[in-house]
Amino acid sequence: MNNDICRLLGIEFPLFAFSHCRDVVAAVSRAGGFGVFGGVRCTAEELEQELAWIDRNVDGMPYGADLVFPEKTNAKRGATQEELMELVPQAHKDFIAGILRDHDLEFSRDDQLLRAPTISATVGEELLEVAFRHPIKLIANALGLAPKPMIDMAKAHGVPVAALVGAPKHALRQVEAGVDIIVAQGTEAGGHCGEVSTLVLVPEVLRALKQVGRDVPVLAAGGIVNGRQMAGMMAVGAQGAWTGSVWLATSDSEVSDAFRDKMLKASSRDTVRSTARTGKMCRQLRSTWHDAWSAPGAPEPLGMPLQGVIAIPALNKAEQAADKGNAKAHDMVSYYVGQGVGLIDAIRTTSAVVQDFKEDFADALEAMNSLLE
Ligand SMILES: Cc1cc2nc3c(=O)[nH]c(=O)nc-3n(C[C@H](O)[C@H](O)[C@H](O)COP(=O)(O)O)c2cc1C
Repeated sequence: MNNDICRLLGIEFPLFAFSHCRDVVAAVSRAGGFGVFGGVRCTAEELEQELAWIDRNVDGMPYGADLVFPEKTNAKRGATQEELMELVPQAHKDFIAGILRDHDLEFSRDDQLLRAPTISATVGEELLEVAFRHPIKLIANALGLAPKPMIDMAKAHGVPVAALVGAPKHALRQVEAGVDIIVAQGTEAGGHCGEVSTLVLVPEVLRALKQVGRDVPVLAAGGIVNGRQMAGMMAVGAQGAWTGSVWLATSDSEVSDAFRDKMLKASSRDTVRSTARTGKMCRQLRSTWHDAWSAPGAPEPLGMPLQGVIAIPALNKAEQAADKGNAKAHDMVSYYVGQGVGLIDAIRTTSAVVQDFKEDFADALEAMNSLLE
């Protein structure tokens, strides 16, 4: 395919795969798409190891990195998990202890202090420095304006910057700040998302950019799990599809057996937008965890990062216990996933998913062209 984004990044098929799993990232890029490694949970050393692994396994194909720098967070830089725990009100600690008891989960202080894969301002420029030591072809940011150090370092390395947005005004702010690629992410998406559907958001963002004369490539994200949907969004004007949930259902992905099982059974109505995991609204698989936080008398979830500090170790514990056969823990298992989960009914290899995207995309184009014959 020959459009601006393919030329900019040296790819043949503008299918972007966000994943926290290096195997998925490398496999998508090898198959002609563009893998983006999500490094938000990594320390600088871990990010170095993951990107070095991708470099060895990507066969020289282009790939990118995504580091989340939340614009608004109430953590001080460098705070440890222990220090953050001190900021959590006792009522919230007690509430979580109750949820865990109800699910037959034993939870020690050590479990709680395990470094939670949460988002905070404690990760930062050192991750950027690591990322730019590798031959990344794109750097992405979510949860607010791409920070100046990211944009400055990217420009110095000749690497385009992408930013995820959920509203036209956010797209305009990002472009003003120097972002090169806008990912318009609709409410269907797994992870942190806004309220407007992809089908409406993408043309809204395109229109807003056109009105200010900024010809920036826009990628469509949220709910896209096959090539027909991708073709639909490109017919609307997107230059490609940015996807996340579909890669969870691959044999390579990072998810537990319990989540994989629940994911295959889930319908598009089984996800929820909730603050009960990270403190910011994000779409995830609904479970007894969300039922507990929305029950009468439950405390309000804390903000980011404190909610994640207490929630993520508890949810991780449930996944481990579910995989060992704890049925109540299985009910609690949840992870970020979008509404497209309702269209996913099998686990496939990553390369098979890319291949299917290409074939479905070609079928969709052919079907549309045949309408004009
Ligand atoms: C498991 C999971 C984790 C995610 N984590 C991040 C993240 O750390 N940074 C980010 O920019 N986007 C993250 N996202 C959002 C994706 O980048 C992408 O925009 C979204 O998955 C697209 O919608 P879809 O899930 O319907 O394909 C995540 C998505 C999922 C499913």
